[in-house]
Amino acid sequence: MRSWSPGLRVGVIIAVVAVLGSALWLAYYLRSKPVSQTSSKFQGTLQNNQPMQNPGGEAATFSTKGSVDLTGEFFKAPGTNNRSCATCHIPEEGWSITPATLQRLFDETSGNHPIFNKLDADNPNMDVSTVDARRAAYSMLLARGVFRRGGAPRAGAEWEIIAVDDPHGFANTNQLVEWRRPLPTINFPIGTVAVNWDAGANLGKGQRAALVNLTNRLFTGALQGSPAAPETVDRIVDFETSLFTAQLTVPGVGRLDADGALGGPEALSKMERVGGEFNLFDAWAGSPDPKRAQIARGQELFNGMNSSMKSCNACHNSVNDGTNIGNRLFDVRTASAEARTSDLPLYTFRNKKTGETVQLTDAGFGNITGKWDDLGLFKTPTLRGLAARAPYFHNGIARTLEDVVRHYEKLFGFQFTDQERADLVAFLNAL
Ligand code: HEC
Ligand code: HEC
Repeated sequence: MRSWSPGLRVGVIIAVVAVLGSALWLAYYLRSKPVSQTSSKFQGTLQNNQPMQNPGGEAATFSTKGSVDLTGEFFKAPGTNNRSCATCHIPEEGWSITPATLQRLFDETSGNHPIFNKLDADNPNMDVSTVDARRAAYSMLLARGVFRRGGAPRAGAEWEIIAVDDPHGFANTNQLVEWRRPLPTINFPIGTVAVNWDAGANLGKGQRAALVNLTNRLFTGALQGSPAAPETVDRIVDFETSLFTAQLTVPGVGRLDADGALGGPEALSKMERVGGEFNLFDAWAGSPDPKRAQIARGQELFNGMNSSMKSCNACHNSVNDGTNIGNRLFDVRTASAEARTSDLPLYTFRNKKTGETVQLTDAGFGNITGKWDDLGLFKTPTLRGLAARAPYFHNGIARTLEDVVRHYEKLFGFQFTDQERADLVAFLNAL
């Protein structure tokens, strides 16, 4: 040090301070980086009907409040894990989140983004100390965008679990693992009272009570925070229930609310919850434009009785939303052993009274009620804004809308020609 000139000494000190300072700033920046994945280009607000690209064209959200405020409590992380509601429910992806975005977030942060939390690891006991370890531990999130839910089998249920095959080695006869896609947090005013895939948030007191109950649970659960103030919960529920999302445009077709058609989120926001057939594209029936005509044919197929004497609209029967008007849940064999992919657990349930057994990858409503007949039942979700949020079904087993239709053909008795399947997919993509 003695041979250094005072000037050099000051220079070194400045350099050291600068390096330390930027390191500290970087650490702070990374820590305080907005946890929402929503693009910063929206600058705090999403305009009503603002187009957002997805693989099927563009979707948009319409808020009854005039625009979508992206700065409210839904977007703030209240807990210790830097997660907000918008960590998993993002406007660009129909208020769900896709595996492609999860993979990008993983790559950008080496798997340190708050969405990668042991709460949703394949098995919470897995090592997450290196990038490779994290990639392995979050394989379900990365591969199909499913989050780990479940818990103890309901006490006093009519059934018991007698065998478990969990490829990730965590589930057992006392611990159900149920892999679930984030449901879109939209279209509630015309939606069903069932909240969550298994209606697990319901208290028998209606939709708002269920949304409040769920938000309360999430604050101390997925967000790892303290109990939420009632005003906070109210504001979050007010926010969710002001949002309508739907596909806005399709390439080669243009706006889905043009020339008498009623697609898009703004028209949806003015609709009432009533039972019946979809009529969004009636005005395009027989259109000289082949793509418009195809969407209208798909709508007719969806509404009508198929040659196999089955109808999509039999269950998806709330007009232009597609939930069930009677709030019913159904078993469409999405949790069946036949539909199982090798990364899902398989449970053998036994009826305590009759000794009958059934194999399922998820108990569904059956673990909420404890009833044998409710095993494998799931809520009938909104079908709007589908193109933005693949993969589909509670466990993401259908990668595309075509896979959805093929599932109904393979395991639910529907029969379609290639043309009919393509028409139906064009319609679903335009919802
Ligand atoms: C870690 C990811 C994650 C976070 C964070 C998260 N959610 Fe979810 N959300 C999910 C998943 C997964 C489901 C489906 C769960 C199920 O059905 O078992 C879901 C379901 C929902 C539903 C049910 C929608 C319906 O149609 O039934 C609502 C409402 C909801 N979330 C709101 C919120 C709110 C409000 C917050 C913040 C307080 C939040 N979520 C935070 C992943 C998340
Ligand atoms: C028996 C009632 C019933 C019938 C018939 C039915 N669905 Fe469904 N649908 C459901 C239920 C329940 C779910 C949720 C199942 C799950 O995720 O496990 C669902 C889920 C879906 C989804 C996935 C939504 C999402 O957010 O992942 C699409 C798309 C869909 N159905 C389209 C159709 C089409 C097209 C037909 C006709 C070919 C049809 N459904 C027939 C009850 C039904």
